[in-house]
Amino acid sequence: MVSTPLPPSSFHSVTAEIGGEENVKMLNAISRDFRSDTIAIPSDAMLLAGLKASRGDDVYDEDPTTAAFEARVAKLAGKEAGLFCSSGTLTNQLAFRTWLTQPPHAVLCDVRSHVYCYESGGISFHSQAATTTVLPTNGHHLTLEDDVEHNLVLDDNILQAPTKVVALENTLSGTIFPQEEIVKIGRRVHEAGLILHLDGARIWNVAAEKGDLDALPVVLKELLDPFDSVSLCMSKGLAAPIGSVLVGPAAFIKKAKHFRKLFGGGVRQSGGLAASADFALTHNFPELKRTHILTKRLNDALKELGARLTVPAETNMIFYDLKPLNINFADLHERALALPNPIRLGGSRIVVHVQTSESAVDDLLALISEMKEEEISKGWTPIPVVEGSSSGAATSGYGSK
Ligand SMILES: Cc1ncc(COP(=O)(O)O)c(C=O)c1O
Repeated sequence: MVSTPLPPSSFHSVTAEIGGEENVKMLNAISRDFRSDTIAIPSDAMLLAGLKASRGDDVYDEDPTTAAFEARVAKLAGKEAGLFCSSGTLTNQLAFRTWLTQPPHAVLCDVRSHVYCYESGGISFHSQAATTTVLPTNGHHLTLEDDVEHNLVLDDNILQAPTKVVALENTLSGTIFPQEEIVKIGRRVHEAGLILHLDGARIWNVAAEKGDLDALPVVLKELLDPFDSVSLCMSKGLAAPIGSVLVGPAAFIKKAKHFRKLFGGGVRQSGGLAASADFALTHNFPELKRTHILTKRLNDALKELGARLTVPAETNMIFYDLKPLNINFADLHERALALPNPIRLGGSRIVVHVQTSESAVDDLLALISEMKEEEISKGWTPIPVVEGSSSGAATSGYGSK
């Protein structure tokens, strides 16, 4: 099948005149790269928006573009203030460091969560905190009754580190945390005098399922209402070159800004980066829904081919297993890279982003179909996937970058 890059809207485009031939090629390459949504690249328009930004020193609090962007995200989130940072790891870890003032103390979170698995042990390093990790009983999301309540350490038993922060993640591996359960957990956490933090790196994907850009202020405020602090990433689904925003009460953000300086994370002339992130929010948020539709199409076609889907595809991620077709990932990845217009894959996870081309999806499906036919011609009989065994407590294959 011949493939052409298909940027879904002109806001994603990179031209030879502005971006240079190398970046036009890069756009084609990443339109066929399913490893992560972080690999989406800034368009010409996004970077040009950065040229018009103010150029003040943000560490001195003198950059109007950065301040306006922080205020925009905070307002959308329904929180008092925001802090623009270089990464989601920084915003999560700043939140913990700011809330956790006196060890011994502990953070309770999902055992699969990014803050625990993929932030280099930052919770113990920066905040001297223990981590209570919980595998959700239902395999999908933590619930108050089955998972959180009995793991809270609320008494003064000196053998344990008392829970101070409960950290949730939404989306987690592309799955959406049911809001009514978040509300329940939030009520209990606050009743116990604790803090509820959200790693909302991909909260935009949840919001996109619930409404368009006009509805975002209402939708996002409602989603984030139970949380004391939230980290929102600009360089995952929204495809900004850099940036995450930490939002919360004004006094908390003021203290987090102090820690940001201590961590070496203050960015001086940050206006151009903030303006690009602001552009990404306006122009790429409306594109997220399309990535979910494309994901669903790919997910359903994989199922049709006989793949086992190991996590429900609720936004832009698929977790799959081709053992029922006798195909292993190493062979698939090698064949995909050897295509005339190569496709890049990563492990058992497929991620669709705003610059993923529809032809990449078609070509991937065609390749898997071809490999399936080869196995059948060698005598393999595809193993039927039992309905209901496809979702649940998958604990492996979760890479959350
Ligand atoms: C859910 C989640 N949270 C936080 C992060 C950290 O973001 P960053 O890579 O910007 O540090 C990531 C990174 O992919 C993530 O997937």
